[in-house]
Amino acid sequence: MKMAGGRRPAAGGRRQAAGGRVGRKGYVRTSSKVGVFTESVIRETFRLAAEHGAINLGQGFPDFPCPPELKAAACAAIDADDNQYPMTYGTPALRAAIAAKTARAYPGWTVDPETEICVTCGATEALVAVTFALLDPGDEIVLFEPWYENYGPDAVLAGAVPRPVPLREPDWAFDEAELRAAFGPRTRAVFLCHPNNPTGKVFTARELALIGELCALWDVVLVVDSIYEHIHQLGPGGYLAPARVPGLEDRTITINSLSKTYAVTGWRVGWTVAPPELTAAIRKVHDFLTIAAPAPLQAAGVAALALPPSTTRGWPSPTASGATCSAVRWRTWASRCAGRTALITSCVTSGGWTPAVTAWPSPGG
Ligand SMILES: Cc1ncc(COP(=O)(O)O)c(C=O)c1O
Repeated sequence: MKMAGGRRPAAGGRRQAAGGRVGRKGYVRTSSKVGVFTESVIRETFRLAAEHGAINLGQGFPDFPCPPELKAAACAAIDADDNQYPMTYGTPALRAAIAAKTARAYPGWTVDPETEICVTCGATEALVAVTFALLDPGDEIVLFEPWYENYGPDAVLAGAVPRPVPLREPDWAFDEAELRAAFGPRTRAVFLCHPNNPTGKVFTARELALIGELCALWDVVLVVDSIYEHIHQLGPGGYLAPARVPGLEDRTITINSLSKTYAVTGWRVGWTVAPPELTAAIRKVHDFLTIAAPAPLQAAGVAALALPPSTTRGWPSPTASGATCSAVRWRTWASRCAGRTALITSCVTSGGWTPAVTAWPSPGG
């Protein structure tokens, strides 16, 4: 076995001591890159919360069932033996559904499913594929801080250098001068989490216009993580698609996924929407990362994207109709949330803090 840098493993390769730990005399060499970042704090929080029976505020996953249409479509695809590698960059049906849903949600935004979409294993893989497709070692990326934790390790793996721009309370706005100063000749991309995890911020038209101006000035690509596109407090029309902002149309990669909107974080189906040249580069990387997203779950994605808007907010909505969100289901969900909110509020209060609690809409109102 040949090791990086021409070094050879000690006899027997990695020696594992009893209990699975690497023995003191064992030879183990990992890349300098993985030494730069730690295990995901979200995954660690998940394990600790499960171990101690705690409420897990560290990971955003919906703990209610997904719409039945998705389950039916996934089961039908499995029953029909849809078991083999699908087209690497997404089944034609799912790409057509993504294009159709995009056009419905944003009239005038036309996406060519043949050349402008790459289906991935969740937004997570899309972020990695995009990072490798865009960046060379030493390239710089502008990130708004605090950022979703994956952006840091993704940048490190690509050898890129993050240039953080702080978002500040109370409205998590950024300072124009700080944003301008973060751009330079080595800037290749801006990563924007919009709506933002962890702050909940939704970037305004004015902010997006400024980002667009700077991206055009420095010839930079905007990468938008829009996984919370339908989950924010601003209501219909509150979220603006950066790819529709004048000047950004030809330089924006929009990342999305079924995970949050349709309550299926474990299904691992996401996608990118980007101009053809960028999509071609993303597709190449994606093929060598994972080949393709799970075939039967892509079929379920077609059903998901055909659902009407009232069921695509991710959260059961009082205005949703029929089996996707009955009044009973809504009441159950709302009372569960109320119980948890009360528990968290009392913990936070006893710790000496004053929590700001958002009121959820009541059933039917
Ligand atoms: C902002 C953001 N982007 C991406 C992801 C990962 O999405 P996916 O499940 O589609 O990989 C998450 C998950 O929490 C997230 O919060």
